[in-house]
Amino acid sequence: MDTLKELESIDLMDSEETSSQFYKDVVNGLKAPQKHLSSKYFYNEHGDILFQKIMNCKDYYLTRAEMDIFQNSSAQLADGIRANASAFDLIELGAGDATKTFHLLKYLKEQNTDFRYLPIDISGYILDILENNLFASLPNLSVCPIQGDYFEALQKACELSSNRKVILFLGANIGNMSPKESLNFCRKLSQNLTKGDRIIIGFDLKKNPATILKAYNDNEGFTSQFNLNLLVRINQELKGNFNIANFEHYQTYDPETGACKSYLVSLCKQEVTIGSETISFTQSESIFMEVSQKYALTEIEKMAFESGFKPILNCFDTHNYFVDAIWEVA
Ligand SMILES: C[S@@+](CC[C@H](N)C(=O)[O-])C[C@H]1O[C@@H](n2cnc3c(N)ncnc32)[C@H](O)[C@@H]1O
Repeated sequence: MDTLKELESIDLMDSEETSSQFYKDVVNGLKAPQKHLSSKYFYNEHGDILFQKIMNCKDYYLTRAEMDIFQNSSAQLADGIRANASAFDLIELGAGDATKTFHLLKYLKEQNTDFRYLPIDISGYILDILENNLFASLPNLSVCPIQGDYFEALQKACELSSNRKVILFLGANIGNMSPKESLNFCRKLSQNLTKGDRIIIGFDLKKNPATILKAYNDNEGFTSQFNLNLLVRINQELKGNFNIANFEHYQTYDPETGACKSYLVSLCKQEVTIGSETISFTQSESIFMEVSQKYALTEIEKMAFESGFKPILNCFDTHNYFVDAIWEVA
């Protein structure tokens, strides 16, 4: 196996550049005819804590379903990615705290598989948690966390060694893009990889609309707090003056298109300043926050073929709520 050129963690984030990009994205988004904010900004320290609460709450079935796959089908997943048994770099995009991935990492280690783990995340806070947890539970695992945006960090990870690559993109993160954006994302992914590289990609499947809607309208109100936290973050980091009590979370699901969308609705006519900008809201005007797209299996296979992959294997949870699809770069 090639030696990784750098094994300590890598930080690709320039904090001044990052906050000026955050400001531009927020102002442009809130000045658009349909106001919108990018869900990648959900994940500051408090956002990470709230997301962990969402993942643990009863109504949010997604994490339990994918955890079921990683706990009970590790061997199947491992066989699906080991391919020709050559050494590989396991690169996870948006790794979060890697609690699900842990089961696969443990299984691969127990099988003496020759691999290294490179978790990528935009949040340095969650990467610190991940690194500490893995150091305590799998001390012999080589871990090289990379803090940065998906593709910039992936390019960095690919420069570190010439080993075969296996990419993990779990947690239905792909669902936080529209179907068109997902297709472009997968195309870009295959273009950044080499023939024979593989990916495991987690999709939330279309199911009873009531089950889906409940997952994003949890009784504890964590999803609502998670969305509102982005306004708090704008206040704290971009000199904003949102009155959080003047906004309310609203969720929709359309079983025809599979789009599950989060909005924040302005409860009154109001003006908000962010730095030197003033944003006006009419009563009931909405900010589109995030899509959580649901897919049918046929749509997933189509996406694989259209983006330069061939499907290898599908792993399901016991309720068939979720699929981790293994694809190979064609
Ligand atoms: C929905 S969580 C999923 C975490 C984990 N994959 C799981 O399945 O439990 C999404 C993670 O992706 C990260 N993330 C979101 N947008 C990102 C981006 N553009 N680049 C890198 N990481 C990103 C977030 O910080 C967060 O930890």
